[in-house]
Amino acid sequence: MTQENIESILTEDRIFAPSEAFRSKARINNRADYDALRARAEKDHEGFWAELAKSEIDWHKPFTKTLDSSRAPHFSWFTDGELNISYNCIDRHLKDKGDKTAIIFEGEKGDTRRITYKELHKNVCQFANALKAKGIKKGDRVVIYMPMVPEAAVAMHACARIGAVHSVVFGGFSAESLKDRIEDAGARALITADGGTRGGKVVPLKAACDEALGKGCKTIETVFVLKRAGNDVAMKNGRDIWWSDATKGQAETCEPEWVNSEHPLFLLYTSGSTGKPKGIQHSTGGYLLGTIVTMNWVFDIQENDIYWCTADVGWITGHSYVAYGPLAVGGTALMYEGAPVIPDAGRFWKICQDHKVTIFYTAPTAIRALMKAGDDYPNKYDLSSIRLLGTVGEPINPEAWIWYHEVIGKERCPIVDTWWQTETGANVIAPVPGAVDTKPGSCTIPLPGMAVDVVDDAGNSISTPDRGGYLVIRKPWPFMLRTIWGDDQRYIDTYWGKFNNRYYVAGDSCRRDKDGYFWIMGRIDDVLNVSGHRLGTMEVESALVAHERVAEAAVVGRPDDIKGEAIFAFVVIRGPRPQGSEADKLTKELRDWVAKEIGPIAKPDDIRYADNLPKTRSGKIMRRLLRTIAKGEEITQDISTLENEDIVKQLQGEM
Ligand code: WT7
Repeated sequence: MTQENIESILTEDRIFAPSEAFRSKARINNRADYDALRARAEKDHEGFWAELAKSEIDWHKPFTKTLDSSRAPHFSWFTDGELNISYNCIDRHLKDKGDKTAIIFEGEKGDTRRITYKELHKNVCQFANALKAKGIKKGDRVVIYMPMVPEAAVAMHACARIGAVHSVVFGGFSAESLKDRIEDAGARALITADGGTRGGKVVPLKAACDEALGKGCKTIETVFVLKRAGNDVAMKNGRDIWWSDATKGQAETCEPEWVNSEHPLFLLYTSGSTGKPKGIQHSTGGYLLGTIVTMNWVFDIQENDIYWCTADVGWITGHSYVAYGPLAVGGTALMYEGAPVIPDAGRFWKICQDHKVTIFYTAPTAIRALMKAGDDYPNKYDLSSIRLLGTVGEPINPEAWIWYHEVIGKERCPIVDTWWQTETGANVIAPVPGAVDTKPGSCTIPLPGMAVDVVDDAGNSISTPDRGGYLVIRKPWPFMLRTIWGDDQRYIDTYWGKFNNRYYVAGDSCRRDKDGYFWIMGRIDDVLNVSGHRLGTMEVESALVAHERVAEAAVVGRPDDIKGEAIFAFVVIRGPRPQGSEADKLTKELRDWVAKEIGPIAKPDDIRYADNLPKTRSGKIMRRLLRTIAKGEEITQDISTLENEDIVKQLQGEM
């Protein structure tokens, strides 16, 4: 990466201050108080986090040691403390808010349910007892492959309640991806459903489980199956059990397993620059603290809020801001099962109206898609309950930001653009909405206790405004990942290697403007951001070359209006290069193939065929050239070292 090519071209300079109406009710409502809080954190990093951990978490056994750096960069927080996260999210609210709604659910077909804290407690305890009855115990891994229904959250809390480590696999991933994750985690149980409903279709989850289990996954002993979509499924005797049968007659209480603060709460697989997904491992105490402080600071959640984060529980956002954060603070979280366009592009806005949503958090890709559908949809609904909007997943383009602000927020609601990652556990850079003015496209400034910096190739902090560099975090924070499951070395190499273990390297490039606002500029590694989700180029390449007709493949991203990045694949096949209708047929076959290997989100948008891929003398694929071609831009780089210049024309689709 050279400085020039990450030098920014953005020139957005509009500033939006929160309204008086918002500010007057906000928990932190002016910049001076907020700066004082940040200064305190900076002065005494450990003391700051220790104080919050004591005030925000109910500890079964209080901690005496805050940060342990003896195994750096594997850091531990609150190490001798003991707690249970399901207790903190549910039990501790029972006395004062047992009858408060914890989860509002709406299915794609329009069915709704409201679940109180008392009911959630009962459901979680019964399912926890069902897990125990099948021999699942503390430390065992359990994979959850579910639709977006309350039982997905119940399953997560039930695991946490007994100290089992959950690993949720997004229901849109294929059987093949599911199998890889089950095997890497060595899971003993799998929790799924017959099917989920999305986009008007049934997603046959149980069938995908059967396919995955048929190919391996020898560690799985039990499969719990929730009846949701009503589709026919096969049940294997001795292995598969219906959720309803497993919970029947189970006690309605279940003493939480008190675990050490560092006890792994969950693994969540995410893509890296190599083909193999990484099992990001989070802790219990530190992670919980991250979700709580950000629910308070960034989402400013209050007693009567109806909080809706649209993310699926298969992603980190669905962990921190659906299943854990809103409950940890005793809030009401909305869950929606389906797609945003069923029956039409007004569905999200109708849900906001019907359930009087006050805080709405979604991804730029969804905002752009709904913006394209036109203003008539949101204008049909009463959105006056909304007081705060949020975005996450990728930089939001100023046009979409302004639309969100005007058409959804009616210029009344601050927008919190939250930068974070699966690895960071919770928001890291984001505005505290009552105190920090916002600029369209910027995630603003780091939260208190987050030592975020932008450094150059030599690792020196960049103070020149608008100069791009590496986004790094200088000090450990409680909700950071602990390691990559089963691969400590990969953890060190991926996140710490670049600057000799001096700081956490996020993998994003970033610039800071003259006001110290952060502007994320994209990834620095071979990772694509498709619809706010990370996909490794290598992962898609591996899937392509696994097809019998593919000899070689290279995948790059190309900017896309809705998805952020689209997947562009260059493919060399065995035998003569396909052309015309033969190429079209193969393209369809390869797209379906990748969907089957990884999941529909990984389907290449474009495929081009050539006799060879452009390579340097040392055999490295010239990715920059491929990116230029994918964008349809004029080639300015030196291609004279190419053996066969004709292939550039082939790749450009010109011959
Ligand atoms: C990557 C993390 C964290 C939940 C969603 C994605 C990009 C995330 C923003 C934002 C600009 C963002 C970064 C980051 N990203 N939020 N507000 N502005 N970029 O989680 O799959 O772990 O991906 O998403 O590139 O590194 P993830």
